[in-house]
Amino acid sequence: MKLLGDSSSSLLLSLLLAQLHLLASAFPVHHRRNQIDFDKLSNQTKLLLTLTRNLLKDRVFSTEINHHRFKSLPAISSRASDFATLEVKPTLSQLHANLKSFQHHFEWLNNITHKQQHSIPKLTDMVSHIGGLVNSLQRQMNHIGAPRLPVPSPSLPPIPAFHWEMVQTSQELLEQFSLFCDWAARVLGRTRSLLTSREAPVVGSTGTSPSGPIRIVGK
Ligand SMILES: *[C@@H]1O[C@H](CO)[C@@H](O)[C@H](O)[C@H]1NC(C)=O
Ligand SMILES: *[C@@H]1O[C@H](CO)[C@@H](O)[C@H](O)[C@H]1NC(C)=O
Repeated sequence: MKLLGDSSSSLLLSLLLAQLHLLASAFPVHHRRNQIDFDKLSNQTKLLLTLTRNLLKDRVFSTEINHHRFKSLPAISSRASDFATLEVKPTLSQLHANLKSFQHHFEWLNNITHKQQHSIPKLTDMVSHIGGLVNSLQRQMNHIGAPRLPVPSPSLPPIPAFHWEMVQTSQELLEQFSLFCDWAARVLGRTRSLLTSREAPVVGSTGTSPSGPIRIVGK
């Protein structure tokens, strides 16, 4: 008896095999792509942290800040317990909302320094890197179906009139942003390590993931 006698049935068989192969490899490929995406997010965040710390090394920033000008900067919660119960989607949504708020504050500061001819090239550089991270985060959020949280419009301080005011305003924003980047890098690192330590994909693909946030608990 000829099972695979004619070319049409062997073509059918190879199509079936190809389908099976696709099914078998879909998850690992998807999984690896998530890891690479998270690596990229981590790298961009660490670069921002480095840029911020380098800016803060400037000798003009030697003084302690005596009062706080920014009323609407995101508060960073960094309790150790938060890391144990990290959920991918809400975490990315929160990261994104906080980053958008910082982006607005930095654009405000950058605009003022330009207008007052105190332009700081490294600040412009940072604003563009923040934009890059916002875009990558948005791509990853679309990919896993994480919702975008509304970003309240920030209440910005009065425009600094004196140079020392400008220095203190910049210092406060940079110090807060440095805390944020440090937190964000650790959160992304944690997410990445949870993804690596599992065989199965943790993050569902678009549209087919179970409803509600995917909870990642400690190993
Ligand atoms: C992230 O940075 C590391 C170390 O610099 C590098 O080896 C890796 O290729 C980078 N990954 C991505 C996705 O950019
Ligand atoms: C900064 O300036 C640009 C260009 O003038 C403007 O589009 C943007 O709205 C300003 N951003 C802030 C936060 O002031």
